[in-house]
Amino acid sequence: MRLYFLRHGIAEELATSDFARELTKRGRRRVATSAKVMKRLGIAPSHIFSSPRLRARQTAEITAKALDKNVTLTEAVNFGFDLADVRRLTKDLDAEAEIMFVGHNPDMSLLVSEITGVDVSMKKGGLARIDVIGGAVDEGELVWLIAPKVFDTLGDKTMPAEALISDLLATPAQKLPTTAQPLHDLIKHRWSPVGFDRDRDIDRETLLSILEAARWAASSFNLQPWRFIVAPRGNATEFQKILSVLREGNQTWARHAAVLMIAVIQKFREPDAPNRHAAHDLGLAVSQMVLQALDQGVYVHQMAGFFPDKAREIYRIPAEYEAFTAIALGYRTANLDHLGEGQREREAAPRQRLELSDIVFSGSWAQPAAFLAEGKA
Ligand SMILES: Cc1cc2nc3c(=O)[nH]c(=O)nc-3n(C[C@H](O)[C@H](O)[C@H](O)COP(=O)(O)O)c2cc1C
Repeated sequence: MRLYFLRHGIAEELATSDFARELTKRGRRRVATSAKVMKRLGIAPSHIFSSPRLRARQTAEITAKALDKNVTLTEAVNFGFDLADVRRLTKDLDAEAEIMFVGHNPDMSLLVSEITGVDVSMKKGGLARIDVIGGAVDEGELVWLIAPKVFDTLGDKTMPAEALISDLLATPAQKLPTTAQPLHDLIKHRWSPVGFDRDRDIDRETLLSILEAARWAASSFNLQPWRFIVAPRGNATEFQKILSVLREGNQTWARHAAVLMIAVIQKFREPDAPNRHAAHDLGLAVSQMVLQALDQGVYVHQMAGFFPDKAREIYRIPAEYEAFTAIALGYRTANLDHLGEGQREREAAPRQRLELSDIVFSGSWAQPAAFLAEGKA
């Protein structure tokens, strides 16, 4: 089930009663623009429930008209709209239903925050999309929140809907690193999703540039001890072959990836000389691959959970090489219906890291480097 929360547009300050406050001219114009953008985005609520207060009702009606839907006015969405009302309004609806509520603050902001766990403040005319996690409407992922200003900008553009959608599938707030230091955007926004879009393939040029990025990594003695076995989903036989090498827990989400790979290291520099840095170098190559991919909107999720011996057998990998990691690549989706609860929770969980003082030493082992403390050189 998918929930949309739409706060009414800009309304006149005074009227005979609060109930009768109408949208201003600007308010109407903005709501009409956002409705047009919603249509382009393919937003198609099966039900629109609106507060009967005039400003909400007008917002709902303008939106419903653009989307070719009907509005149900209900006191439930009036002032004091809460989770019990959401439960009541949705309880007999299909699991596939997409429901839009058009109402007032603070109820809209409070509800979005309560259901998603993300602290949200909704502007007039703003729209939030929540994909419900599991059966109950009490918990969901905030997939996006469109501010009215963003609607204005999108309304002016003739961008294809697909580009709009991928722009809107922004990094969830909980996946962004909490750091006092500035970071490159690509590093900040990289994370390992399990929600891959099974309907969106990676085109050949994009895949080639991702592999080219790996190719140009640094390596000890420039030995380039990396090899990649690659299977785009379009090649069903090869894709299934790699999938069959993954551990079951990884198969559940990786089967929706657009490309699967097995990354292999060359373990020896010469027949009797092991290359101690091969794993380091493979990591560098994959790291470049990950960032290049993200620059093109493609997410990467690496895996240790696979069967190297099975890979050796299936691909006849020679003894001096070793299958080291498996890699899934694809575009993200917020639709996690195919995943178990644990994986959905993982997708919604904040990312954790050790502190710099746990990993950066000087002087002696485990002694945090002095310069880490403020004011010290
Ligand atoms: C070498 C390597 C092996 C990994 N193996 C798995 C795996 O088998 N399954 C999985 O779901 N995630 C795997 N991960 C993903 C990590 O769990 C993830 O990178 C880590 O929790 C940090 O999260 P982030 O990448 O979102 O920052 C692996 C990552 C790396 C680099």
